[in-house]
Amino acid sequence: MHRRGFLAAGLATVLSGSRALAQMKMDGMSNMDSMPGMDMGGHAGHDMGAMGQGPVALPEGQPLRELPMLANEAGQPGLLKAKLTAAPATARFAADRDTPILAYNGMSPGPLIEAHEGDRVEITFANRIEGEQSTIHWHGMPVPADQDGNPMDPVAAGADRVYAFDLPEGSAGSYWYHPHPHGRTAEQVYRGLAGAFVVKAKDDPVPAAYGDTVVMFTDLRLAADGSMPDNTMVDLMNGRVGDHVLVNGQKNPRLAVAMGAKRRLRLYNATNARFLRLAFDGAAMTIIGTDGGLLEKPVAANEIMLSPAERVELVVAFDRPGAATLTTLDYDRGWMGAGRPADAGLTLLTADVSETPGEAMPPLPERLRPIASLRAPTVSRRLVFTETMAMNPTGMTMGFLINGKPFDMERVDIVANAGETELWEIVNQADMDHPFHLHGTQFQVIEHERGGKVSKPPYLAWKDTVNVARGETVRLLLRQEQPGPRMYHCHILEHEQLGMMGIVDVQA
Ligand code: C2O
Ligand code: CU
Ligand code: CU
Repeated sequence: MHRRGFLAAGLATVLSGSRALAQMKMDGMSNMDSMPGMDMGGHAGHDMGAMGQGPVALPEGQPLRELPMLANEAGQPGLLKAKLTAAPATARFAADRDTPILAYNGMSPGPLIEAHEGDRVEITFANRIEGEQSTIHWHGMPVPADQDGNPMDPVAAGADRVYAFDLPEGSAGSYWYHPHPHGRTAEQVYRGLAGAFVVKAKDDPVPAAYGDTVVMFTDLRLAADGSMPDNTMVDLMNGRVGDHVLVNGQKNPRLAVAMGAKRRLRLYNATNARFLRLAFDGAAMTIIGTDGGLLEKPVAANEIMLSPAERVELVVAFDRPGAATLTTLDYDRGWMGAGRPADAGLTLLTADVSETPGEAMPPLPERLRPIASLRAPTVSRRLVFTETMAMNPTGMTMGFLINGKPFDMERVDIVANAGETELWEIVNQADMDHPFHLHGTQFQVIEHERGGKVSKPPYLAWKDTVNVARGETVRLLLRQEQPGPRMYHCHILEHEQLGMMGIVDVQA
């Protein structure tokens, strides 16, 4: 069993002199002080609710809300000038109680940012979270390292800073933004700080008649009083999984569509740690894009695996009248301990397809755009992901390591050169899946290997996050074009916080 493997690794660490203990990063983890010990039986709070009577019910079936767009103050073409303020706010998830959250411009998810290839972006960030540093990281976007909201560049509580960057030609894609402060990313994100950033192409091959809708999944756990409970040991180990998967902040909202309609949907997994294996019952899905934009050509799909931080762009064809539902299928990602969340059979979104056909839709083109495959790497690197566990006087502590080390902000793990193609081999020797993410560029996955079996991905795609299943090795090609320090990490944000992160310093 996976759990036994994890414990064996932990025990070995204890016997070899509590190496993991010394390696644990305790900063920013005040919640661990109040943990008297770890209960391996695992009473995941999300199964019980705060008072032990099950999760707080949320209203369902409201019309799907479009995310409000971030207002552009520039008044001139080619420039996006705006302000994003992170601050405490109040949300009404359950009908009868308030939930204190963190929000960008008062909303969670944050406002949708939309820009075009070639645009200049200047966003003033105001951190109004009391007593906490924050940053804004532009997940997946090719922005300069010093504009990318690294933990090394914190914005103090009460301070402002401007993030400025140009969106290069060819950068159209489904990106997002979220905080990345040292030791506090997981909590700031689950409390509500995340938003979508869509870069549109100048010449978009996808018919405008399909619309373009961001569908952002977040995860919510509410205590009986409406508050969001702190992370437990089970959350730190597995990553926080809540009671409810929300779509644009709503539970199972409804979308009215005409029979025969095609809709372009950009699906975002903005949860801390929820693995979403998705199917659309009653409608046909075609994948047209991934994290970093369109594929070369559309690919029909019966199901889609979206690990934390991944995105996929779909065209969904609604050809049958009645309800079509976006649901989750079972996926075993190596849950530790008891309390594995119910992540199969959830209905995330319901489309109501009309009886009478709507206007005829133009077909999806057979070619979307060319993707030049990266080739002939001049450097190859190997990153081994492991988990460790150790006892200390206050209880059990966990470490999530890359090449045997937990994250250290003062340490450069890899020195690379801008413009050079590299082969990265991500080896998961741990008992849980870990979605690997790299800042600053998009990569191409070329190979998966598991149990001695090598397979190639079914299509060429630009990605910034890829799940590396337990026991799996994923090989990818990448090229950083811009100099400066970049983070790479597991995008289960609790694992990132517990050390599963490193720095690659790209030389000009
Ligand atoms: Cu989405 Cu380093 O993060
Ligand atoms: Cu990122
Ligand atoms: Cu992980």
